[in-house]
This record gives sequence, structure tokens and C-alpha cells, in this order.
Amino acid sequence: MSMALRAKNNNEPKLKQTLLDAGQKTVDATICKRCGMAYFPNSAEDKAAHAKYHNFTTSAIRLRNFKHQYVLQQFLDGSIYMIGCTSPASEQKKAEHVRELVDNELGITTPFNCLWSETKAYFYIEDCSDIVLGYCLAHIVHRVHVLDLTDESNIDTETEMNKMLCGIARIWVHPDHRRARIATKLLDCVRTNFFFGIVIKRADLAFSAPTDDGRQLFKKYTHSNRLFIY
Ligand SMILES: CC(C)(COP(=O)(O)OP(=O)(O)OC[C@H]1O[C@@H](n2cnc3c(N)ncnc32)[C@H](O)[C@@H]1OP(=O)(O)O)[C@@H](O)C(=O)NCCC(=O)NCCS
Ligand SMILES: [Zn+2]
Repeated sequence: MSMALRAKNNNEPKLKQTLLDAGQKTVDATICKRCGMAYFPNSAEDKAAHAKYHNFTTSAIRLRNFKHQYVLQQFLDGSIYMIGCTSPASEQKKAEHVRELVDNELGITTPFNCLWSETKAYFYIEDCSDIVLGYCLAHIVHRVHVLDLTDESNIDTETEMNKMLCGIARIWVHPDHRRARIATKLLDCVRTNFFFGIVIKRADLAFSAPTDDGRQLFKKYTHSNRLFIY
């Protein structure tokens, strides 16, 4: 075969069968009971995305050898540790690594500029296993909006205000341990620990781009339909 002919054959469009229509019903989205992800089981792309997400959420993140002086609160099953500006660089690095894993899980792609002078990371760690059961990243924010949960279609730009608040940049609880008040304990800890000598009121916390789970939690936690968001 001549070179010219071979080139012509390579340029021919390849016909690809993308869908075999045998009259089957469209399959509805399923929600995985363990990881909570909704996906279409008949889509290979969705199945792969679910496998990745499921694997991450159900495999444990462990944090070992934390310095004991950073324990803020102890419970029957675990303790809350805090990493902040006075923590050794090695621990700040571990905290950043956990954030990257959580960001990956939540699909957050915008980079978080972590200034440790204005940021504290809280970890609820199971004592017997060192597994991270819950994680909360709090930092100082300077501008917020008000989100009215009774009318979410309308984030009023008029409500944007310059206000220095404690912002919850991330909050995450291991899927096998949700609805056991771990997020509530983390938020309580943030409120009493974040600003030295001040207990922040529940309704004075601000929240970054809340997810559906986040909205439910924050609504319950703040006892309010109006949330500060940023
Ligand atoms: C949101 C999240 C952190 C909540 O953690 P949690 O430890 O399960 O929350 P808590 O047990 O402290 O919840 C306290 C109350 O908030 C409400 N609440 C929390 N999550 C809820 C949900 N998914 N649906 C409805 N209500 C919810 C409930 O009223 C709950 O009390 P109850 O269980 O007695 O009814 C957790 O679901 C999670 O990690 N989700 C994935 C990550 C995410 O979306 N994070 C929010 C980013 S903004
Ligand atoms: Zn799953």
C-alpha cells in the first residue's frame, strides 16, 4: 500500500457505536447508601466517578502522632485537635493534606490560600484508630452576604457587607459517622476556641458556598433561616 493511500485511510472517519438501543428503559439515578453520591449506574463515566468518590469517602484518612497539647476537647470515642499558627510546619502540612483530600471529595477546585495566621483546622479523631471522623477549617473572613434559606433564588447583593467574622471554609464528616453530632461538636469547638477569650454566637458564623447537607446542618445549628455566606 502506498504512503498516500495509507494516509487517506487514516483520515477516514472511524464510525463508533455509542449507544445500543434495544428499547431498554432509562435507568434512574441511584444514591449510594454508603457515600451518598447520586449517579446513573448505566453511564460508564458516572460509574467510574462514583467508584473514585466511594473509595475516597469510605477509606479512612488517618492522622497520627499529634502533639497532645493541641487536644481541645475529649469525648468518649475521640478527641478534637486543632492545628493553627503555632503548630509545627509538619502538622500544618498534614492539615493541608487532609484539606486537599476533602476538596477532592467535594469537587472543590478553587485553591485555598491558607494563611495560618488567620486559619485554624479542627480534627475529630477516633482515639483507638487515629481515623479522622470529622474536619472543620475555619478562618477570618471580611466580606459576607446574607442567604435567605426561605428564598434561595434570591441572594441579594444589597446584603453584601464588610464584616469580620469566623468563616467555616470546610466541614466534613466521615460518611459512616454522620448524624452523630460530630459536625455540631466541631462547630461548638470553633465557636469557643477561634477568637481568644470570645465565644462566637451560632448565628455569627459565616459559611462558604454551603452544599445541601451543609444548608441543613447550618440551618439547624444556627436556629436561623438567614445565613452569612461568602
Ligand atoms: C454536612 C455534614 C458535615 C454534617 O455532619 P454531621 O456530623 O452528620 O452533622 P450533625 O450530626 O452534627 O447534624 C446536626 C443536625 O443538623 C441537621 N443535619 C445535618 N446533616 C443533615 C442532612 N444531611 N440532612 C438533613 N439534616 C441534617 C440535623 O437536624 C442534625 O440533627 P439530627 O441528626 O438530630 O436530626 C456531613 O453531612 C458531611 O460531611 N457532608 C458532606 C460534606 C459537606 O457537604 N459539607 C458541608 C460543606 S458546606
Ligand atoms: Zn458509594
